[in-house]
Amino acid sequence: MININENYNKLQASYLFSDISKKVAAFEAANPDRDIIKLGIGDVTRALPAACIEAMHKAVDEMASDGDFRGYGPEQGYDFLRNAIATNDFQSRGADISADEIFVSDGSKCDCGNIQEIFATDAKVAIPDPVYPVYTDTNVMAGRSGTWKDGRYQGMPYLDSTAANNYVPALPEEPVDLIYLCFPNNPTGATATKAQLKTWVDYAKENKALILFDAAYVAFIRDEDLPQSIYEIEGAREVAIEFRSFSKTAGFTGTRCAYTVVPKACMAYDSEGNAQPVHALWNRRHCTKFNGVSYPVQRAAEAVYSPEGKAQVKELTDYYLENATLIREKMISLGYQIAGGENSPYIWINTGGDSWEFFDKLLNEASVVTTPGSGFGACGQGYIRISAFNSHKNVKEALTRIEKAL
Ligand SMILES: Cc1ncc(COP(=O)(O)O)c(C=O)c1O
Repeated sequence: MININENYNKLQASYLFSDISKKVAAFEAANPDRDIIKLGIGDVTRALPAACIEAMHKAVDEMASDGDFRGYGPEQGYDFLRNAIATNDFQSRGADISADEIFVSDGSKCDCGNIQEIFATDAKVAIPDPVYPVYTDTNVMAGRSGTWKDGRYQGMPYLDSTAANNYVPALPEEPVDLIYLCFPNNPTGATATKAQLKTWVDYAKENKALILFDAAYVAFIRDEDLPQSIYEIEGAREVAIEFRSFSKTAGFTGTRCAYTVVPKACMAYDSEGNAQPVHALWNRRHCTKFNGVSYPVQRAAEAVYSPEGKAQVKELTDYYLENATLIREKMISLGYQIAGGENSPYIWINTGGDSWEFFDKLLNEASVVTTPGSGFGACGQGYIRISAFNSHKNVKEALTRIEKAL
């Protein structure tokens, strides 16, 4: 008899965005004439940068000739891309990361979700609240959550991120082994300073813990004083893995390319307390279960680092940041307490009531889709997240409608 992995039964309800889709589909069916503006799910709306398209076309042409054709590539990614990443994203900012510490993949969602499998099943995992649900759910699937009681998993210490701590959580009260951090944050849009990250790096070193740092939204940082990588913090090479994605940086949500940095100095421990390099473990996992990102997509990602690519990515992210400013200013002028939207495409709004009720109000009265904060965790109750990924025209129209509805 084949038994199921019963940890899956502990997962709470369905994935947040499928609940939203169901509500939106029902609203659309009941109101076929209403023009809905979607500021909910964080998907980009603008085309790929021209430099990426050009590089992808060229690579596709290479695939058409026997001489230039490429079959299976290195699982970890082609050197041309790994070198471009190491030089531009890390070494140029003084972060000591080399090309062979970069693992190119088809998405940060997969990487953030898969990484936990190289660690012990009884590892204590600290999860921020509110949180990108992938971190939680993948650990629930692996059996690290304990039971669900009173709205929380009893085996996972939560790191509350609230207005009181500017959405940067304090160190946990009980010892933890694995810590997820995400800055700029999804969903709150908060950023963390170097001093705040240093506190976490020091904690990880003292406790032989490991930080999983998700920097999927790094391209939206404009404040020069903010760190872009956790490796800008002294000592982080020994205790942190970083996830980056081309999805929000360069509009690759449908093209799929990301990478994970695992420094060679980064250690985890066997049951006898011996240090084991995490790089070797992740390399083994990656090569066994992943066959690399396609050559044309890696060429497109490489083009992000060309002079034209850099300028186009800046223009693309500036465009969404202008939307973020419009949303921020409007919601502040309407009297709401908000976070994010300055170095981030997300604006986190304290509705003063229930998240889903506010979501329903904006859907029904303004035909605008947002994301209820309660879907990201208990600390998200009372909040909604508005995403800046849309056209200026739609954002302006949505804000006019929201003002009227409120
Ligand atoms: C915090 C965070 N990490 C990772 C991802 C996933 O990115 P990718 O498209 O590379 O899978 C997202 C996507 O929304 C995200 O919000």
